[in-house]
Amino acid sequence: MTEYPYRDRILHMESVSLADVASRFGTPCYVYSRAAIERQWHAFDAAFGKRTHLVCYAVKANSTLGVLQVLARLGSGFDIVSVGELERVIAAGGAPARTVFSGVGKRADEMRRALEAGIRCFNVESESELRRLDKVAGSLGKIAPVALRVNPDVDPGTHPYISTGLRENKFGIAREEALRIYHEAGRLAHVRVTGVACHVGSQIVTLAPFQDTAARMAELVRELKRDGLVVDHADLGGGLGVRHAAEQPPEPAILVQALCDAFAGMEVELHVEPGRAIVANAGMLLTRVEYLKQNGMKHFAVVDAAMNDLLRPALYQSWHDIVPVQAGGGAPERCYDVVGPVCESADFLGLNRPLAIAEGDLLAVRSVGAYGATMASNYNSRSRPAEVLVDGAQTWEIRRREALTDLWASEKLVQ
Ligand code: LLP
Repeated sequence: MTEYPYRDRILHMESVSLADVASRFGTPCYVYSRAAIERQWHAFDAAFGKRTHLVCYAVKANSTLGVLQVLARLGSGFDIVSVGELERVIAAGGAPARTVFSGVGKRADEMRRALEAGIRCFNVESESELRRLDKVAGSLGKIAPVALRVNPDVDPGTHPYISTGLRENKFGIAREEALRIYHEAGRLAHVRVTGVACHVGSQIVTLAPFQDTAARMAELVRELKRDGLVVDHADLGGGLGVRHAAEQPPEPAILVQALCDAFAGMEVELHVEPGRAIVANAGMLLTRVEYLKQNGMKHFAVVDAAMNDLLRPALYQSWHDIVPVQAGGGAPERCYDVVGPVCESADFLGLNRPLAIAEGDLLAVRSVGAYGATMASNYNSRSRPAEVLVDGAQTWEIRRREALTDLWASEKLVQ
């Protein structure tokens, strides 16, 4: 896990005091380290060495323009799942030519826009989608570059909500159907098969599922080549987990090495689509303690961030470290449930946390740079938080806190 130091008993990110960030931008507030994002991206990119490759950052993990811009400036590729994500990539200066389009439900208008923008590849997830794409590309007089997303039937050993590579999941094309559909694709006039794709799940913390997947995909590529099909790339998806508590996920370099090993001697460009592993540990959520209260035997810290700001604990029972921004305030240590103001019992950021805190103190919820801000909502008519990028001693407000009027700007009263 990225280490963030206390200096003069105040938690810092790069050279910036997080107490200062909270007082300048208010709470709740997401804050990201540019250096941590760049370091993780380079860890993937450098590990490929001389092998031709593309690191396609999975935009869904964090799609704030300032974050995408940092990655675009590194020359990153992008993995998108909607036209909205495509427009964000373009607005942030990302290259459509290095962007791949995943997702089970691409609409015709999304295909059209992606074809006009000139994306690198459509990762197609069904026969119907393939036929629709052929039609849409034909109507534009274009040829769509296509990889079939094959479901390798590998158990990623992760939370069922974020497992995608099993036979019973909705994602991808069954392995035993793949060859037939590849041949069908070869007969269509407006698609051109360029590769294979897969993605088996998220927050995977062991190497074995990746090794199994890569071995199965390499075998598929061999079969396709034997059948005379052109395969110039293999997209092995994202999914590398991060450390939240006791997990010990492999380093990006170890994962990439395993993927390269599975494809040793094969002339295909390798693509990966990491999201979480690039941004999770680069981000924290700053929140202020509003009230401390005791009900029966239980102590609660009611903070100003809630499940609408960070849904992961409620939805996946995920663990995020919660640490004080100012250390050593002298308050007695107690075991708190850290909860938000939303009217749901699932509204917690962490349960049973030993903390020495007082009302008014600032807390930092760790490792929330991925699937934090992107999954935020306006539930309970709460504004979504500000987002701040730290870069050395500098801070950039990359998203202002929503104004209340933003919340109903698209609504109309009845006549
Ligand atoms: N590629 C595809 C096709 C995907 O579906 C995903 C994630 C990724 C790449 C990136 O996976 P990553 O490297 O971030 O694990 N909201 C959940 C995670 C859902 C992931 C969905 N797909 C969470 O907060 O844990």
